[in-house]
Amino acid sequence: MESVERRAHALEALAAEGVFDNDDHPLIGVLDRQAVRDRVRELEDAFDGPGRRLHTVAAKAATLVPVLGWFAEAGMGCEVASPGELAMALEAGFDPSRIVFDSPAKTRTELRRALELGADLNIDNVQELQRIDRLRQDVDHDPARPAPGIGFRINPQTGAGSIEAMSTASHTSKFGVGLADPGTRRMLFEAYAARPWLNQLHVHSGSQGMELKQIAAGIAAVYELAEEINARLGHRRIDRLDIGGGLPVNFASDETTPTFREYRAAIEQMVPGLFDGRYSLTTEFGRSLLAKAGTIVARVEYVKHIGGRQVVITHAGAQVATRTAFAPESWPLRVSLHTPDGKLKAAGSAQEGDGSEGAGLRSDVAGPCCFSGDLLTEDVELPAAEPGDLVAVHDTGAYYFSTPFAYNALPRPGVRGYGVDPADGGVRWEGIRRAQSVEEILAESGGGRAASLD
Ligand SMILES: Cc1ncc(COP(=O)(O)O)c(C=O)c1O
Repeated sequence: MESVERRAHALEALAAEGVFDNDDHPLIGVLDRQAVRDRVRELEDAFDGPGRRLHTVAAKAATLVPVLGWFAEAGMGCEVASPGELAMALEAGFDPSRIVFDSPAKTRTELRRALELGADLNIDNVQELQRIDRLRQDVDHDPARPAPGIGFRINPQTGAGSIEAMSTASHTSKFGVGLADPGTRRMLFEAYAARPWLNQLHVHSGSQGMELKQIAAGIAAVYELAEEINARLGHRRIDRLDIGGGLPVNFASDETTPTFREYRAAIEQMVPGLFDGRYSLTTEFGRSLLAKAGTIVARVEYVKHIGGRQVVITHAGAQVATRTAFAPESWPLRVSLHTPDGKLKAAGSAQEGDGSEGAGLRSDVAGPCCFSGDLLTEDVELPAAEPGDLVAVHDTGAYYFSTPFAYNALPRPGVRGYGVDPADGGVRWEGIRRAQSVEEILAESGGGRAASLD
């Protein structure tokens, strides 16, 4: 059964269960577990070949312990960038040796913890290296455990993609050390020459909006740097390359493109030596592993016609689709309209006499937040909608569940995983996150403290 068919079964099952009849939470996020499994397998197959691979999931794409647990169970590792993400990764069951710690602002406490755990560590800058030098003097490394991968994050300065905010290889990006900046190559050579425990280089040129050629150019620059440092040191000190994540996702249709195979082919064309087994390779994909597996489903509360537009007011807006609401040109989303029982509404299902039979209506799909930019999509053709219909927001499995916006004190929605029995179409649910309650919102907003203010 294809993922589109599984999604249709899941929507109908949610509707049949009466999920959207609940006025407290008329929306939910769902994740297709089989689709995630399939993506993990595609990644592993695409990177098949000699040498060690450590495929990690970027926790920031899904800060949900059970979802991270799916990746741990599949044998992957986890890339984390904060103490919270690290705690989630450990709870999800990742062995510390399969955890990679990034972040441009690691505190001494965080660095000490990473060293004690034996996690891989991508050093952002020279000041951080000096902290690590000092911390290493009193953190014992258990010789029974494999030596962690530790090395610099390199900004190859090979250029930005179409979304500036997602580009980490621009000339002035805040991440890592700028490879083209004066003195960087010398600094790196001296750092590696003086520290036998530096054995890795890291590059992540950016996320959505990057072209494969640009990602490959960043990896090529770092591969050449590793070869150069090794040649100058006279031995293969750097034997690990962490090539980051960043494979873009197609948000325009159900097609998964580009694929992990295309990603590998683009890199291999530019850096044929990368896959010959001399380097252990780490990857840190997020969006490409999860986006297409996720759907947000919300009830339509009202439908209005304003200025020639059908305006569909739903319960999913900027609180779950923050980037889309604030930067819609960079983060467009696809929505589909469904009847209250979850079935796809065809264009011809308009009300007789409303002038829209057989055709779509120019529509905006809006959320519940109090600002007019709170839109999931603008000026798209949709069938005539009615209160009680459902709107499905597609490809929202990465970042949308982990990047909530607390404006208007709207609750974080619940999230469930699902699987579908191919024999009978029966949907099996797995609870991932409970919807936030008003009591929880009050508690995190200083509730109960009003009296202590005087
Ligand atoms: C260091 C690092 N690795 C991996 C990722 C994941 O990127 P993506 O979700 O585009 O694969 C990010 C995203 O910001 C990142 O900063």
